[in-house]
Amino acid sequence: MAEEAFAVPASIEGMVDDLRQGLLPAAIFHDREIYELELRRIFAKCWVYVGHETEIPNRGDFVTRNIGEDPFVLIRDEEGELRVLLNACRHRGAQICRVQAGNAKGFVCPFHGWAYRNSGELIGVPARNQGYAALNLEDWSLFAAPHVVNYMGLIFANLDREAVSFEEYLGDYKWYFDIQFALSEGGMEVLGEPHRWLVAANWKQGAENFCGDSSHTQMTHRSVLDAGIIETAAAGAPKEGTGLHIHDCSGHAISIRQLPGEAPFISYPEEVTRHLHPGVLNQDQFDLAKRSLLQNGTLFPNFSFLHIGLSDSPQKPQAGFLTLRVWQPKGPGQMEIWNWVLAPKEASLEYKQRAYQVGMSSFSPSGSFEQDDVAVWPGVTRSAGTVFAELNKVRFNYQMGMGDMSSSKPLADWVGPGVVNSTNAGEGGLRTFHKTWYERMTNTKVEICDHD
Ligand code: FES
Ligand SMILES: [Fe+2]
Repeated sequence: MAEEAFAVPASIEGMVDDLRQGLLPAAIFHDREIYELELRRIFAKCWVYVGHETEIPNRGDFVTRNIGEDPFVLIRDEEGELRVLLNACRHRGAQICRVQAGNAKGFVCPFHGWAYRNSGELIGVPARNQGYAALNLEDWSLFAAPHVVNYMGLIFANLDREAVSFEEYLGDYKWYFDIQFALSEGGMEVLGEPHRWLVAANWKQGAENFCGDSSHTQMTHRSVLDAGIIETAAAGAPKEGTGLHIHDCSGHAISIRQLPGEAPFISYPEEVTRHLHPGVLNQDQFDLAKRSLLQNGTLFPNFSFLHIGLSDSPQKPQAGFLTLRVWQPKGPGQMEIWNWVLAPKEASLEYKQRAYQVGMSSFSPSGSFEQDDVAVWPGVTRSAGTVFAELNKVRFNYQMGMGDMSSSKPLADWVGPGVVNSTNAGEGGLRTFHKTWYERMTNTKVEICDHD
């Protein structure tokens, strides 16, 4: 039976025609009705990142996380199983866990004392003989995400019982995604706790940015470039040959800055690169990592990565690290950014400390790059919410690099999947993000040819 298309909200009627022209209705960054639908049609149906296995290495370890705006507890139970439990008591809904992280054999609800195992089973109800004698405990376990996967240490959950597998959801994007997490034999390790902060901007602002907004860095981050803590080739103006954009790769996108013929290896020093091997990667994937200065992308909807090297001082060498992002929705006009810093597990403690320090000095609430971005993004959400935008049905321009706008052609002999643009002077990755968004919001398929 054909799947039913969802009703199209009035504020995005005609959006397919806009997308074909590289235009985007401003309303999607502001409209409350759209936002409520996103929670239901995107966050309740897509694979959403909830944490990294190294955050909960031991039985009973847990962290509290969100899927959309719904609260969950990610926990490793007594059997070592990963569970994503709805943080809501089955009695009358109080939150059973009230801290951000810890270790527990179970949870006792602070309201009337229902007690649960860390696997979610209900094991005790106060005054049961007097008031709940016929209650079947087995029927009242905590609700849990029906699908949880540990993919290379990354834990994703999906609330949709009918969801496709995570591997199918990744599709061809796996080729690029795996590079970030499988370079070192032991995988990547989360350094410290995630940092999070509120920004007065829509969650899609961050998600689309990491799809490949390569033309903003030379402007937004100019002071950082001037300070000399990152190479111009890594964050300066878009450049043919150095910058690559892979747009529509199973609905996700990635941006790469590379130095053909050289081996910057994300600015990891030799003491780290000696631990990097192809392993589960093929030689083409490994060689791409080797010649990359940086790689950043977004796995739809709100999980992004940035594999980059920079420094906290022009006098100190660059240090590579991986930063993971979750663009947590908090209403149409606000998001909470979650940020993890990672390094290869085999790196020395000294290097990990350095990587963490460099990560914090650049991409954290007080980080040099972060300060730049979050100064600009709220302006977009504000513009999108103006009465003027509503009355005039304002469209934003995402046409950069599209069709005749670009003098570059996709690479004909590329080693990986997807259509690869030989320049990063374009917004194709952002267009992919919004195409996927539209498809998810309307449960339809949209054919858009983004290149000649
Ligand atoms: S709401 Fe949890 S025990 Fe009553
Ligand atoms: Fe930026």
